[in-house]
Amino acid sequence: MTNTSKQDRVLIFDTTLRDGEQSPGATMSHPEKLEIAGLLDDMGVDIIEAGFPIASDGDFEAVREIARQSNNSVICGLSRADLGDIDRCWDAVRHSRQPRIHTFIGTSPLHRAIPNLTMDEMADLIHETVTHARNLCDNVQWSAMDATRTEADYLCRTVEIAIKAGANTINIPDTVGYTAPRESADIIRMLLERVPGADEVVFSTHCHNDLGMATANSLAAVDAGARQIECTINGLGERAGNTALEEVVMAMRVRNDIMPYQTGIDTTKIMNLSRRVATVSGFQVQFNKAVVGKNAFAHESGIHQDGMLKNAQTFEIMLPEDVGLAETSIVMGKHSGRAALRSKLSDLGYELADNQLRDVFVRFKELADRKKEIYDEDLLALVSDEGTQAAHDFIKVKNLQVVCGTEGPQSADLTLTIDGKDHQVKTHGDGPVDATFRAVKKLFPHEAKLHLYQVHAVTEGTDAQATVSVRLEENGKIVVGQSADTDTVVASAKAYVNAINKLLVRREKTAPQPATQRQS
Ligand code: KIV
Ligand code: ZN
Repeated sequence: MTNTSKQDRVLIFDTTLRDGEQSPGATMSHPEKLEIAGLLDDMGVDIIEAGFPIASDGDFEAVREIARQSNNSVICGLSRADLGDIDRCWDAVRHSRQPRIHTFIGTSPLHRAIPNLTMDEMADLIHETVTHARNLCDNVQWSAMDATRTEADYLCRTVEIAIKAGANTINIPDTVGYTAPRESADIIRMLLERVPGADEVVFSTHCHNDLGMATANSLAAVDAGARQIECTINGLGERAGNTALEEVVMAMRVRNDIMPYQTGIDTTKIMNLSRRVATVSGFQVQFNKAVVGKNAFAHESGIHQDGMLKNAQTFEIMLPEDVGLAETSIVMGKHSGRAALRSKLSDLGYELADNQLRDVFVRFKELADRKKEIYDEDLLALVSDEGTQAAHDFIKVKNLQVVCGTEGPQSADLTLTIDGKDHQVKTHGDGPVDATFRAVKKLFPHEAKLHLYQVHAVTEGTDAQATVSVRLEENGKIVVGQSADTDTVVASAKAYVNAINKLLVRREKTAPQPATQRQS
């Protein structure tokens, strides 16, 4: 049986939490990683690459917890071609019901030069590391990093070695986003034809989007016989990102006539995941992004609107509902009750516990007092904000008054509750946000650098809520804080404080531990 004829099922391997999180600034906190992994599992992702366990204790713990909590997905961890790396990876993923070790090495001339290995030495290392991984775990994936710039003969040779050593999945990364669709297909076809044992393994495609061809390259590889696509939500990833999960999944669904492949993805969960990943990573989705962009289903021009009213198929190749985008609706006003809120949140994919619902309901009522019309997006921002402002936060915004306008100086009068005690200060700044951030720094001195400050209106209108993302960096640790409020400056203060709270958690986690507490 050949790989192509074996099945028309394409496995979806999501690497949002590994390659996606590797993109500078996209760092997610531990609870955020667990939440995203839970949503991916729920959506039907076949394999979740949960992290790179050797990279840090935080990565290790995240992979281990995700492995423990996962229900359906295979949980995979990444490791270099190093026995110690592989052991550490196994220690993290072995808690999963379905663990996978993913080990890789750069096979192209440029990558071989870094460890200064000859072709033969690298071949031996591949044999040794894949054998070691396979002795630990039944499910092993091997990747030839920069495969698309590796000499064809050497790629065939290394793939054959990995298969013989026991790898079940062979991944062919286009690490620098260099390949083009025809070439992507040719490489997979060549491997299937030339490598002994190729029909016994699953070939995987892993594309980066440097030339905007990641989706096309992945689908071309599938057409040639690859049966696993590695991708991320919103195409998050290093540089120009990875193949976007939503794009390949919807392409195979919408054009099933010419791409007759199935995935196990519940596409109605795509929109919610896209929004959560955008929020926690601080990487907003561009408005015209395929499938999940704000404008992907918007029809602005008169001709389009007229056509849509007569027959939606005139200009729409997929339904908004297919990706979980409910028609934007005015949800409720200030007279709506708790049961209605629960039911609406459930429609939006959120099942809240009673205490969470109680808190969100209080904030919903406050919002309804300030904002006449409340939309689905407002509720999503509320729920998301509720998740970020935790009761046990070390620092909380208690009160903020700002002075702004054409006649300076602009100032902020801020009270923070720090470790249970109130502290107040008044500062000036270049605008109200700058004054507020200076006030936070005066009350809680720190060296963290502000790398990003981003404001987004959740809906239209001048009374719209603003979601604010703040990215801070301290000694190489990056955190993203978020908050939402109809008052942009209040949202900014809360987002900044949220980022500092996350930084404090990171500081605690990386502080040297007594030997007895270290992972064995
Ligand atoms: O792009 C790449 O080559 C990778 C490998 C580690 C699989 O991400
Ligand atoms: Zn990659």
